[in-house]
Amino acid sequence: MEGLMNTSTSKTPGALSFAVRELQSSDADSVLAIQAQSPEASQWQKKDYESLAGNGSRGWVAQADGRIAGFLVARLIADEVEILNLAVDPGMRRQGVAEKLLNEAIAWAGQNGAARAYLEVRQRNLGAVEFYKAHGFHRIGMRPNYYFNPPDDATLLAAPVSRR
Ligand SMILES: CC(C)(COP(=O)(O)OP(=O)(O)OC[C@H]1O[C@@H](n2cnc3c(N)ncnc32)[C@H](O)[C@@H]1OP(=O)(O)O)[C@@H](O)C(=O)NCCC(=O)NCCS
Repeated sequence: MEGLMNTSTSKTPGALSFAVRELQSSDADSVLAIQAQSPEASQWQKKDYESLAGNGSRGWVAQADGRIAGFLVARLIADEVEILNLAVDPGMRRQGVAEKLLNEAIAWAGQNGAARAYLEVRQRNLGAVEFYKAHGFHRIGMRPNYYFNPPDDATLLAAPVSRR
């Protein structure tokens, strides 16, 4: 249970108190509920969250007052980590949940040899683009008509990862 041992807690005074730990398959229903309220996130199926380790991915959840506040899934390939999915409960946004999840994923990636993080995000998803830019990501390109339902271009963002 390496992920549980790696639990870390938000310590900002007055802020939402939450802990980040590895996503377990038993979290899948809670994660799906947040995903359903986050149309900008990738809409995965339950089995996708239940089989992360099997496809080389790893997930984290932020837990506040016994409920899941947000989740992030990443995949490490060679020296790059791809942020595959990220969403926070709409009622718990702008309280540092995504930041804590991203920091956890980047730390794990750095410890496991990643030199760069990258992701694709809907061009119209300005909130997420701002979030990533606030955390060191910069635009490296775009993929036209990458998304459908609704159609959108993808913005490619990347950030350096320091190895530890
Ligand atoms: C994007 C998302 C994950 C951010 O989660 P969050 O927990 O609210 O983010 P944080 O509180 O950690 O934000 C930290 C900083 O990121 C930036 N940021 C986050 N959301 C932002 C927004 N909507 N607009 C502008 N900046 C934003 C700000 O700099 C913020 O700091 P501040 O609140 O002091 O201004 C959340 O809005 C979400 O779940 N969106 C729907 C799903 C999605 O878009 N996923 C990304 C797909 S790649």
